[in-house]
Amino acid sequence: MSIVAHNIEKLFGDPPTHVLKGINFEIQTGEFVSLTGRSGSGKSTLLYILSSLDKPTRGDVSLSGLSLDQMSETDLHLFRNQKIGFVFQFHFLLPELSALENVLMPARKLKQENEKRPYAIDLLKQFGLQDRINNLPHQLSGGEMQRVAIARALVMSPEFIFADEPTGNLDSANGELVMRIFHDINVKNKTTIVMVTHDQEFAKNASRQIHLADGKVVSV
Ligand SMILES: Nc1ncnc2c1ncn2[C@@H]1O[C@H](COP(=O)(O)OP(=O)(O)O)[C@@H](O)[C@H]1O
Ligand SMILES: [Mg+2]
Repeated sequence: MSIVAHNIEKLFGDPPTHVLKGINFEIQTGEFVSLTGRSGSGKSTLLYILSSLDKPTRGDVSLSGLSLDQMSETDLHLFRNQKIGFVFQFHFLLPELSALENVLMPARKLKQENEKRPYAIDLLKQFGLQDRINNLPHQLSGGEMQRVAIARALVMSPEFIFADEPTGNLDSANGELVMRIFHDINVKNKTTIVMVTHDQEFAKNASRQIHLADGKVVSV
């Protein structure tokens, strides 16, 4: 089993508001799942918890059989760097680094920059960015920046990709390109993908939808 969510609850604030109200599901290795629901239903909160970036108030997440709750901060940090690719709506590229250097950031953290350089260049080429390799982020369009961010998420060949509205600020052509890239990665590499989206058209690219309403799973 790739991802197991067990009785996840999340409360924020004082007085506390109950944002996630007991979430349970399992995702198999190699599944491409979309996480859908209205704005405010708890999608991003759940994605952050599934991807180890935030902790649930109650309950636990297991990734590849490892309980995140049982892992030390050091182990979690290493796990994240090696096994997880993150793609967010606002890409957070480092402005002073070129496209290639941004893609290589996860490899640099693990001191694998040189070994991963050919693959990073290959990913940029696959994504139609062969002429943008040495450009800085401000010299790229929104769609190009998002493709750089996806290449960065893939450079360590992660087991998991977690994406929060990855097509949210893209035009439809770039949105479709990003969906095609996710589909190809999922098929070729058996990468488990969890993608938050409120767009039904994009959600259909996934093999399964988990739908949230008011902090609960209403369909899996
Ligand atoms: N850090 C936080 N502190 C307080 N409330 C939060 C925080 N993060 C999210 N919320 C609240 O939790 C609810 C769900 O938010 P979110 O997970 O971002 O929903 P979605 O991604 O589905 O739009 C919202 O009411 C939001 O205001
Ligand atoms: Mg959100």
